[in-house]
Amino acid sequence: MGVLAVLVLPLLLFGISGIIYIYRAVIQLMSKSAVKNKVVVITDAISGLGKECSRVFHTGGARLVLCGKTWEKLEALHDALISVADPSVTFTPKLVLLDISDINCIQDVAKEILDCYGCVDILINNASLKVKGVVQSVSLELDKKIMDANYFGPITLTKALLPNMISRRTGQIVLVNNIQGKIGIPFRAAYAASKHAAQGFFDCLRAEVEEFDVCISTVSPTFIRSYHIQPEPGNWEASIWKFFFRKLAYGVHPMEVAEEVLCTVSRKKQEVFMANPIPKAAVYIRIFFPALFFAIVASGTKDKQKVEEQK
Ligand SMILES: NC(=O)c1ccc[n+]([C@@H]2O[C@H](COP(=O)([O-])OP(=O)(O)OC[C@H]3O[C@@H](n4cnc5c(N)ncnc54)[C@H](OP(=O)(O)O)[C@@H]3O)[C@@H](O)[C@H]2O)c1
Repeated sequence: MGVLAVLVLPLLLFGISGIIYIYRAVIQLMSKSAVKNKVVVITDAISGLGKECSRVFHTGGARLVLCGKTWEKLEALHDALISVADPSVTFTPKLVLLDISDINCIQDVAKEILDCYGCVDILINNASLKVKGVVQSVSLELDKKIMDANYFGPITLTKALLPNMISRRTGQIVLVNNIQGKIGIPFRAAYAASKHAAQGFFDCLRAEVEEFDVCISTVSPTFIRSYHIQPEPGNWEASIWKFFFRKLAYGVHPMEVAEEVLCTVSRKKQEVFMANPIPKAAVYIRIFFPALFFAIVASGTKDKQKVEEQK
């Protein structure tokens, strides 16, 4: 009886972990089968997250259209994808040159995609341009460039592909956004403004196209880890305590975000926040206690302002 009592807790934990593991594996399998044969367009497929999205959708059997602004990088991604995948269950991706801030060429790109496949099932608006700096140091020209890349580009491509989705009464558009589309953080005014604009646009569109069975999803991570930033071996991650805070220090791995994008698509989720409790709480504090939120973000900004100005 005594031994049994001691074993109950570990066995229970073991059982729960097993169930969670199996549940995740099933969800992953279902997610992959949900994109099989679908025409999936990914903008800036060559970015950190774009590459991982390309990989998970490719192995899921999607007919991929990989867009990016550098042909050599697109070709390298294409070769990397087909070299590891099973050709009997995957499709060779189509490559398309696309600079998302070049608004005038987007109609032609949409036509090229539709001429090739006849339809688009899923559009992943991933491309984006970042800028950091005090408002006075960012030129109006750069502000406009950010708006083109992060707002006008994605909405132009969306508008070009939407009629096809509406006429077929099916489709899904995913906006890869940022938590800065919900809250403003100092020194990122142009980026946050463009992400707020995109969030607002897709929130309105969601309601408008629901009756045509077109689903709009936004996935907003806080901080995605860069490939070149790796945890120091034997130092940080050796500590279990610090292990739990690795996402705060290094950000979420692009692979994790890509799996979430796949899951968002297969389960037709409308809004996903991939954030730690602190940024998540900040979103709610901004809504319910704006004065407190403004005071928190302003505190300490003065010191940082000098550093940013010097940069
Ligand atoms: N990184 C983060 O911490 C973070 C956090 C939250 C959300 N996000 C969002 O996640 C998405 C992917 O970001 P990421 O971090 O994976 O990107 P990333 O690795 O930082 O790469 C930036 C990419 O943007 C491309 N790019 C710049 N201007 C472009 C344009 N006009 N047209 C097409 N591509 C352009 C660059 O292409 P070249 O290399 O050829 O110049 C590069 O591939 C973005 O929507 C971003 O807002 C990122």
